[in-house]
Order: sequence, then C-alpha cells, then structure tokens
Amino acid sequence: MFKYSALLALVALMPAIANAQSPLYGQCGGIGWSGATTCVSGSSCQKLNDYYSQCLPGAAAPTSAPTSAPPTSPTVTPTAPGSSVPLPSTTPTAGNPFVGYEAFLSPYYQDEVTAAVSAISDPTLKAKAAKVASVPNFTWFDVIAKVPTLGDYLSAASAKQASTGTKQLVQIVVYDLPDRDCAALASNGEFSIANNGLNNYKGYIDQIVAQVKKFPDVRIVAVIEPDSLANLVTNLNVQKCSGAQTAYKQGVTYAMQQLNAVGVYMYLDAGHAGWLGWPANLTPAAQLFAQLYKDAGSPQFVRGLATNVANFNALRASSPDPITQGNQNYDEIHYIEALAPALSSQGFPASFIVDQGRSGVQNIRQQWGDWCNVKGAGFGMRPTTNTGSSLIDAVVWVKPGGECDGTTNTSSPRYDAHCGLSDAAPNAPEAGTWFQSYFETLVSAANPAF
Ligand SMILES: *[C@@H]1O[C@H](CO)[C@@H](O)[C@H](O)[C@H]1NC(C)=O
Ligand SMILES: *[C@@H]1O[C@H](CO)[C@@H](O)[C@H](O)[C@H]1NC(C)=O
Repeated sequence: MFKYSALLALVALMPAIANAQSPLYGQCGGIGWSGATTCVSGSSCQKLNDYYSQCLPGAAAPTSAPTSAPPTSPTVTPTAPGSSVPLPSTTPTAGNPFVGYEAFLSPYYQDEVTAAVSAISDPTLKAKAAKVASVPNFTWFDVIAKVPTLGDYLSAASAKQASTGTKQLVQIVVYDLPDRDCAALASNGEFSIANNGLNNYKGYIDQIVAQVKKFPDVRIVAVIEPDSLANLVTNLNVQKCSGAQTAYKQGVTYAMQQLNAVGVYMYLDAGHAGWLGWPANLTPAAQLFAQLYKDAGSPQFVRGLATNVANFNALRASSPDPITQGNQNYDEIHYIEALAPALSSQGFPASFIVDQGRSGVQNIRQQWGDWCNVKGAGFGMRPTTNTGSSLIDAVVWVKPGGECDGTTNTSSPRYDAHCGLSDAAPNAPEAGTWFQSYFETLVSAANPAF
C-alpha cells in the first residue's frame, strides 16, 4: 500500500511540473521521480512499472491511470520493464522478450576475448577470433560476490539504450543454488545446505533484485539454475541430489517469485535432449517443471525453459549422432517438440531458448553424456530469433565459449572424471577460467564459419 499512495502523491504533483519535457527514452515518472513528467514531441510517457515511466516513441498507450485496485501481492507485476505498452494485469504470460531488443554486449567478456585474440599469432585465426567478441552471450552470476557487477552491466546497457535508442536486453544466468551441481564435481558452488545455504541463496536472489530495481528501463532475460531441476528428475539416486531436492525446489521457487516481481524474463534450465529427452524422462520432467511453475503462482515472466545450456547438441542434426542410440529425440528440436505438449497439458505453456554456442560440430563425442570440454567442438549458430519454430523464442549463446568446463588436474578437489575422458580436451584449467587453446579450436571449427 505504501507504494500505491506514493504513486498517487506523484500523480497529484504532476500538473505543477508539467511544463518541463523529458527527452526520448528519458524518465518521465515513477515513485521518487521529481523531474519532468511530459515528453518531447513524437514520444509519450509510458508507465513501465511503479518505479519507472519512460518517454517512448509514438502516441500514448491506453492510459493506465491508477484508478483500479493496486496489486495486493508484491509478486504481481502488471508491466514489463522495457515493454512499450503496459501489459494488462491479466496477461497470463509475457511475450517473446527477444523481439525488438538487442542483446547487450558485455564489455567484460569483450576484454576476455580481446586478450585471447592478442595471444593468437596466426593472422587468419586472429581475425576470426576477433569477431567472437561481437556475439552476445550470457553473464553467469555463479557467486554472490559477482552480483554487484550486474549493476554495472545494467547501468552500461541503460546508457547505451538512451544514447542509441536501441532497446537493450541483458542476458544473465542465475547459478548459485546450495549444494550446486549435485551429480558432478566440477562446478560445485559456494553455498552448502548444511550451512545455511538456502537462506544464503535467498540473500543472493535479493541482491540481484536490488540491482534490477535500480535500472527498471533495461530488459533482463535470465536462465535459472543450469542442471538443477534436471538432476532432480534423473539423479535422486545420488545422495547429494536427493539431499538437495527440497532446497533446490524452494530456491528455484523463490527465484521465480522474486525475479517475476521485478519483471525479469525467465527460462528454467531443462537439461538437453540426451538427458531429459529420453522417453522415460520426458513425463517426469514435464511434471516437475509444471508443478514448480504452478506452485510458484504461474509467474507471468517465467516464459519457459532453456535447453542445451553449455552442451554440444545440435538444434537440428542432419542425422542422428550414433551416440544418441536410438533416442527419437536425438537433437534439441525433437526434444522441445516432445516436451512442449507434455508441459502444456500440465498447465505450463512454455516457450524455449536453445544454447548453440558450442554446437557447431557434431559427432565428436564417445558418449552422449560427455559434457566436459569436448574435443573438436566449434562455435555454432549465431544468436537469432529466426528459429524456424514457434516454440523457440531464440537461439542463444549461454555458455561463454572459451571458459573451461572443468579441470584435467586429477589432484584438484573439483576434478571430475568426465574432464579426463579421451574425448575431452587435455590440459584444462579449473571450471570457469579461460581455456585459450580450447577457444582457438572453437573459432577455427566454428560452423557457420566466422
Ligand atoms: C561471449 O563469449 C566469448 C567467449 O568465448 C567472449 O569472447 C565474448 O566476448 C562473449 N560476448 C559477449 C558480448 O558477452
Ligand atoms: C593440481 O591441483 C593441486 C591441488 O589443488 C595443486 O596443488 C596443483 O598445483 C595443481 N596442478 C597443476 C598443474 O595445476
């Protein structure tokens, strides 16, 4: 209620300061805003949420004067940050968040690539590698200490949007559940369930929310917790996974509700074709995702699921890789087309995004389950909303290719045997750190070529 009365007070002030005008894409209202509330000619002031109204091109949208009852629950957000037209509060799901937006290029990773490029001597490869820096991928918030940098990205994206007039989309991965990566070793995280991990995780989500609130004009798309729910579908026989089940569900539900309240578009991670795409796993997977979604209150910004994150499967394979061993869902499109109806029938009308960052080369694995620095992989399809499937919002690059999946150092506490297989690249550093020789192969084997 406090928010609502503050908004009314602001509305009451409007006539007094109506003569100043905000520029195109400038702020023109919101709780705590005391500047101009009208816009330069050719644009109109549109409410994006309680905290932010913005001058957007064109005439005013149908007015959303705060005469109707205010939202009573803090988890309901009737408008999408960055959408040009207020969404009616009855909208069951938000639209494709990628349409009309440009993915923001992270200057941090660009630095990483620039450094990588300068270490290449072959001029042809060097020129190709330089182009990688212009392909957007997702920024992983894999420790709480990185969350403040989200504010830097959002601030930079907000400034770019204001100066260019091109709406920016910041792509992030929410990845810090307690007892993370319960079935493997390479990416286990900083929080442990035994040591207040779920509360720590909620604090991590709260910190993300605090950053998001500061830049309500920037649209954000988030992949929620790679591998976590998929592990609950197939790996409850692993003690760490069964022990994490409740905390994973509560953590993901908290993330969905809190991020929904600030208009972050979300895709829950759904593994990949070679994992949940097996016929025996599809139904339990659909049940789990749909149940969590409904229990969270069917949040309108939970747009659907992300598949193949950090994996190597093709969206559309020209023929089944022999390792797919007769699974009819031998690539991501078959997996998605099989999963979507199962989800819909359970009340979760999901749309999808698919990681193709490292899927350029096929038939290079010995087992479908091999996930670590697969040797011979190349950068894949470039990010696009032209996906050829109405189920798929966008092809994306979630995994920043060049960052290592896991170390080959057998003495490391994070050594996972998958990283020592013969189809995994040798001499790999710790997960998440830069792996120069692997990056160079991704570039030279890219398909389409750079
Ligand atoms: C995407 O990831 C690559 C690492 O392979 C990085 O070089 C590139 O700069 C990233 N792009 C952005 C904009 O995030
Ligand atoms: C391998 O890991 C161990 C244990 O963390 C460490 O002491 C050693 O320096 C590492 N070796 C290499 C080559 O990085």
